[in-house]
Amino acid sequence: MSNYHIKHLEEYYQVYRKSIREPENFWEEVAEEHFLWYKKWENVLSWDFSKPKVKWFEGAKLNITVNCIDRHLTTNGNKTAILFEPNDPNEAAEHITYRELHRRVCQFANVLKDKGVEKGDRVCIYLPMIPELAIATLACARIGAVHSVVFAGFSSTALATRINDSSCKMVITSDGSFRGSKTIDLKGIVDEALNDCDCVESVLVVKRINSSINMVDGRDEWLEPLLEEAYEDCVPEIMDAEDPLFILYTSGSTGMPKGMVHTTAGYMIYTAYTFKNVFQYKQGDIYWCTADIGWITGHSYIVYGPLANGATTVMFEGVPSYPDFGRFWDIVEKHKINQFYTAPTAIRALAKEGLELVEKYDLSSLKVLGSVGEPINEEAWHWYNDNIGKKQSPIVDTWWQTETGGIMITPIPFATPTKPTYATLPFPGIQPALMDEEGNELTENQVSGRLCIKFPWPSMARTIWGNHQRYKDTYFTAFENKYFTGDGALRDEVGYYRITGRVDDVIIVSGHNLGTAPIEDAINEHPAVAESAIVGFPHDIKGNALYGYVILKDVGEGRVHDNLRKEINQIITEHVGPIAKLDKIQFTKGLPKTRSGKIMRRILRKIACKDTKNLGDTSTLLNPEVVQEIIDNSL
Ligand code: PRX
Repeated sequence: MSNYHIKHLEEYYQVYRKSIREPENFWEEVAEEHFLWYKKWENVLSWDFSKPKVKWFEGAKLNITVNCIDRHLTTNGNKTAILFEPNDPNEAAEHITYRELHRRVCQFANVLKDKGVEKGDRVCIYLPMIPELAIATLACARIGAVHSVVFAGFSSTALATRINDSSCKMVITSDGSFRGSKTIDLKGIVDEALNDCDCVESVLVVKRINSSINMVDGRDEWLEPLLEEAYEDCVPEIMDAEDPLFILYTSGSTGMPKGMVHTTAGYMIYTAYTFKNVFQYKQGDIYWCTADIGWITGHSYIVYGPLANGATTVMFEGVPSYPDFGRFWDIVEKHKINQFYTAPTAIRALAKEGLELVEKYDLSSLKVLGSVGEPINEEAWHWYNDNIGKKQSPIVDTWWQTETGGIMITPIPFATPTKPTYATLPFPGIQPALMDEEGNELTENQVSGRLCIKFPWPSMARTIWGNHQRYKDTYFTAFENKYFTGDGALRDEVGYYRITGRVDDVIIVSGHNLGTAPIEDAINEHPAVAESAIVGFPHDIKGNALYGYVILKDVGEGRVHDNLRKEINQIITEHVGPIAKLDKIQFTKGLPKTRSGKIMRRILRKIACKDTKNLGDTSTLLNPEVVQEIIDNSL
């Protein structure tokens, strides 16, 4: 991509105004200037939020891997595309050039083809943060298969649900993973999941930890020998602009996760263009996003956005605390990182460890710092700004979602003056609206409301896999003709946005988006549990932690509550994953309910937050007497 970036605030406003006045022309120019097309589009955009239906660049033909890899080979073939930093600091980092990436993606793609994977087939990828994870996604994209990456911290039940929902034909995994001083038996988790998945025909296994694992005859194969045999070039599949590129699951308000479907051309253009501007990436820079590719941040800003720009993108296998809490800063010094993109929860955890481990390292290479995944509190913002950026590197607090595919509200570094806890201004092409509860748009400044987007943008998810009605109900019915984000926000006197948090049943814990329903479903599986309700409460490091209210069946005397607490967390770990464990579990005789039987979470939330003075009107409850009992026994 050309090196052109938005450079100052006035220019941002000019570009922004154009993007709103003539969105089709605006995005067409981006698409014309930067990408390789087999065939150009017939129509830039057609849309109707009432259906909802959104199509960008209809008629165009392309392959995203050609834009992310092949296109850079003549000028940048020897440049590092992926810089892999292993879990163990004593293991050498691996520099994978664009040329090598091309070869490895092609070989992997040929293996997929040999195993019968065809255009449109779904492939589940359940891998740790090793190069094969990025390569596997690109190999799928090369042949037009739809990847569904499942974060390798999810349990076997969660994995099985996701595999079945999109009928994946193949699973790509590894013998295990390194995480700090621990190893995790990923293949064992896959084996367990596959007991419940009839759709899977084959499993490819990457060797990473050299453990002895069980291989099922006729189903499982080691990847390496297949790669060695595979041909080093693979003709890219010619894809339509609106062909699905991947599915990525996110939590919802029912136990069933939502498989957000992202398509090819719009996603490519938007992630590439945002990457370039939000991180002000210049050729030669080394960019590091600490997210896992199992989340949207990794898809868009470790793999596709950076590679579409011919960037060097770092993949880190380990955790911030291993071998000690200085590891991030050690990596920044070692690889002379220029752009560093992480989550507030990591910043808070590292800030708690004091400055000694920061001051040991030379962080002078840093130019831009990023934050994503949850609101960044003022204290963490200042710590990051003062001690990591030394007040020289602007912080881009980027607001976006799995559903939006790319960054939506963000400062442009060196152009937008930053303001702690504010994501600031909409990216070009993004038209936010704040709505009151009656559905009126609040058009003035200094208001707060529900955050919606009024106009389509190229990387928005097009549907929920297999359930378009749910897509419509979740995002397009609350406010007519608008995409509803599920977040609340305020707009200050100059038009800057501050995201205030979720207004639905999603709770963000350590930057992970968790729905209450699947966790409650898991708890209710425990034989001693009659009913449960989960709410969030503020936590110093995680941002939010989970508080569970649990009604027990009549289990008689003799059940020790501490054991039950452990068992409940164990069942959550099995059904959802360890990230969803509860910090506090209160056993109670009842839950506050409306006359229609709905749990009044608002009250439970206030009790969990120790804010019991103003519980609002409880007289409409079916059982107002339980409220005092819950307050008296709260933890
Ligand atoms: O509540 C917002 C919060 O994370 C949600 C989206 O989560 P997920 O789909 O997992 O994607 C996370 C990575 C893009 C949003 O609805 N969120 C994300 N970024 C921010 C944020 N909240 C406040 N400030 C942010 N910068």
